[in-house]
This record gives sequence, structure tokens and C-alpha cells, in this order.
Amino acid sequence: MSFSHFDRAIAVFDFGSQYSQLIVRRIRELGYQALLHQPERIGEIGAPSAIILSGGPRSTTEPGAPDIDFERLKAYGVPVLGICYGMQLLNLKCGGRIHPGTTREYGPALLRPVCGDGLMAGVEASQVWMSHSDTCERPPEARVLAENQDGIPVALQWGEGLFGIQFHPEVSHSEQGDRILANFLGTAREPARFEIGAFKDRLVEEIRETVAGRAVVCGVSGGVDSTVLAALLHEAGVNVRCLFVDNGLLRKNEVEEVVAQFEGIGIGIEVIDAAERFLKALEGEADPEEKRRIIGRLFVEVFFSAAGEIELLAQGTLFPDVIESATSGSIASTIKTHHNRVSQIMELARQGKVLEPLSDLFKDEVRALGRALGLDPVVLGRHPFPGPGLAVRCPGEVTPERLKIIREADAIFIGALRRHGLYDSVWQAYAAALPCKTVGVKGDERVHETPVVLRAVSSQDAMTAEWVRLPGEFLAEVSNRILNGVPGVSRVLYDISTKPPASIEWE
Ligand code: XMP
Repeated sequence: MSFSHFDRAIAVFDFGSQYSQLIVRRIRELGYQALLHQPERIGEIGAPSAIILSGGPRSTTEPGAPDIDFERLKAYGVPVLGICYGMQLLNLKCGGRIHPGTTREYGPALLRPVCGDGLMAGVEASQVWMSHSDTCERPPEARVLAENQDGIPVALQWGEGLFGIQFHPEVSHSEQGDRILANFLGTAREPARFEIGAFKDRLVEEIRETVAGRAVVCGVSGGVDSTVLAALLHEAGVNVRCLFVDNGLLRKNEVEEVVAQFEGIGIGIEVIDAAERFLKALEGEADPEEKRRIIGRLFVEVFFSAAGEIELLAQGTLFPDVIESATSGSIASTIKTHHNRVSQIMELARQGKVLEPLSDLFKDEVRALGRALGLDPVVLGRHPFPGPGLAVRCPGEVTPERLKIIREADAIFIGALRRHGLYDSVWQAYAAALPCKTVGVKGDERVHETPVVLRAVSSQDAMTAEWVRLPGEFLAEVSNRILNGVPGVSRVLYDISTKPPASIEWE
């Protein structure tokens, strides 16, 4: 169950573009409520204030290409903007033609407005981002609003409130993209504003209505999403049971800290101590994918057995998770599938017993919601921590010895980042321990002990990442503390790999 029925939102129809989510995000950044819909649901979107048709990977000239019911679209009586594929579709509907291209125009192009009003008000000649192969032959009555460097029309208006642009205004490489979107939004019919405080109040109200007195159970990890979810349910006065599975793969003092964090919000959590079960199940297993499977399977087993009969399950699924699970075959989507889309949960969803109040939001919006709920900035600024926990920082077999080393080294590293005011400028940082022994000299003796790797990355969305240039003096301090304070460590390494081709975790 998601909360996608905000009247007077901007309705964005998704034709499969990799940028569809970005359109929604840009609109919200411009201060308006936007929701993403599938084109076949054109009849179920409430009362939109404007409509955007996204780009897409297909050609409108292919048989079976995605389409939209144009009569229903027009019946809403609100302005419509087609982007790329969306523009081509509108051009066809308005009597124009589409010529299939053989090569894809991908990358920067020049936008030259040929008028100074409407969509192009205040827009100067500037770079825009293209990603298309087909071209539009406009019907004679269509007005050209802008051309590219070769004089080919890239922005059209077919009639009152019907616009199309060939480029992607939502991509940051389109220098005046925000202005063009803002100009379009200026024509919307009484658009709902996106303001996080009002959004929170609305969510709380909808949660109360949906829960309708049922008992709610939710799994928490102490991370930003599950904490905001629990705080939201708490604010809605819902009878919620928060379960926290200790899988034995958590960081130093994590259980105590998470319990204290929730107590601070006024929520008691039940800790399910399953550490031994997880560690036993992982014994002798060195294959990374198998380790993930074992952990995922056991998590579901432990969680559902503790939860018992479920009246309503609340999950902190975010908007990108929904889209990933629905559309991509990436590793990330299988990961999320593990936790949020396993068969038990799908079955509950079919019965209307799953509540996902954050499913319209992006991560930074969840943080803003957390602030609106009065949560501690320290909690909201926590680095992401993977579901399989330290198992992905312990390549090879997970052993109690290496887990202990990771916990101690990680606590030293993270503590130092906080003390030096560096924690918030890093997307994610951690210590891993390698499955080998390297030689060292301690006292007068040669010893063979475990190497520890430190990793600190900057990123926006974890899809790509850059290693952080931490100051040498800082790394020297952390290395000394680990080498002298953590038994069993022979050396400390700093990971200077970008993603791609490396990943953030070591697995
Ligand atoms: P990688 O290693 O794929 O990690 O570059 C990208 C981001 O995803 C996190 N991660 C996970 N998060 N369950 C999660 O909830 C998982 O199984 C999982 N595996 C990786 C990782 O910490 C990083 O932020």
C-alpha cells in the first residue's frame, strides 16, 4: 500500500526512461508535489494539476510501443509536457509523424530558443542533454519554440497547454533544465506544493486511516529509513511492535545504541538475539553469494517467526527501491528483493497487509521528513549499513576472530572520523578484515596476523563512488590506534578504488 493519491500533484507517466525518477525529484526540488505513474493507469490518478510524459528506450514506430489513452489524457484539462519519447508520442497524437533514426543522438546539444515566452521564458541559448534516435515531423499548425544547432526543432507546442521537448530538462547537464520545468509548472492548474511539514501531517493522517486500529509490526535496523518509519508510526499513535534482529553481524555496541536511539524517540524495541544461529549457519561458507543467501533466508525465518500472525507489516521501502525492484535486474534489486519483496511479504501485500509510507520518497526527503519529526541529526546522518552486516566486510569465511577485529577497528575509525569532524563529509566508511595473515614484528617476534582495510567513499546514490582523500595525518593516527589497540592486526591498508570497477563493500 502506498500513499500515491495526492490531489493536484504533477502526474509523471513513466515510459521507461532511466531518468523518470529524476523528473519527479526535480519537480519536488522546485517545490511541487509530483508522483510517478504507469501509462496504463491513466484513469486512476486522482486530479492532477499538470501531466508529464517521460522519455523511454523504445521507438513510437515499433509495434507494441508504449502508448497512452490520449482522450483520457486530454479530459483532465491540464497542461501536458512530453519529454523525448513523450514528445514523439504527443506529436503523433497531434497529427505529426515520426521518422525512425538509425543512430542515437546521445549527449550535449545546443538549445536555441526561437521565442521568449511560455516554456522558453527567460531561457537563453545553452547546452541541453539529448538521448534519442527518432525525429519529429511536426504538423503544420505546431509552433516551434526552440531549435538545436542545426536548426532542427527540439521544442514544440501543438496547442493550448500541449508542449514537447526533445531533450532531458531533468538531467543536470541541461543547463537551463530547471527553468524550463519551472516555466511548465507555472502553467499547472493549482499545483499542490511539496512542503515536508505538510507532507508529514498528510502521511500521519493517511497512516491512521489505513491502519484503522490494526496491530502493526515493523522490522528496524536503526538506519535512517526504519527509524523515520517507526517515528512516523509513533507520531500517528499506532500500536506498533518494532523487531530488531541481532544477526551477530552488527557493529560494536550497535544493539545497545539502537535500543537507546529508539528509547530517545519514545519507542521500545524487541531485540531478537539470533546471533548464534546466523554464525552457525555461516560456518565454513566462503562463497559471497551463498553467504548472502544464508543471511537473507535466515532473516526472513527469524523475523516472521518472532512476528507471529501479522495484521499489518510496515516497511521502510523508498521510492528508488520500488522502481529498482520493479524494473531492473541489478544486484541492488536482488538485494532489495531479499528484504522487501520476498514471497511472504508479497503474499501479505496481496492481502492488503503491507504498509509502505515512505515509498514515494527519496533518501534525502526521508531525512527531511525525519527532521520534521524532530529526530536527532546524528541519527539522520548515519552512514548506510548493509543488511548482511559485517559479513560483507569479512571476505571469505565469517569467523568470530575476524568479526572481533572488524568491530574494534571500525569503532576506532568511525570514532576518529567523528572527532575530527569528517564523518558527515563521507558517504560511508568502515573497516574490513582480510582472510589471510601477513607478517609483522611485535616486540622481538615475527607474527603473522590479519590485515585490516579502511574504506571511506563519497557518493550520491551508491551507484558510483569515489574514495575520500582523508588527510595523511588522520590516517596515520587511525592506523596507529588500530595497530596498537586491536590484538591480531598486523597492518592497516587504505582502499583507493573507485566504483566502478570496484564496489563499495568488499564482500
Ligand atoms: P556495493 O558494495 O554494491 O554497495 O557497491 C552499494 C551500497 O549498498 C550497500 N549494500 C547493501 N545494503 N543490503 C543493503 O541494505 C545489502 O545486501 C547490501 N549490500 C550492499 C552498501 O553498504 C553500499 O552502501
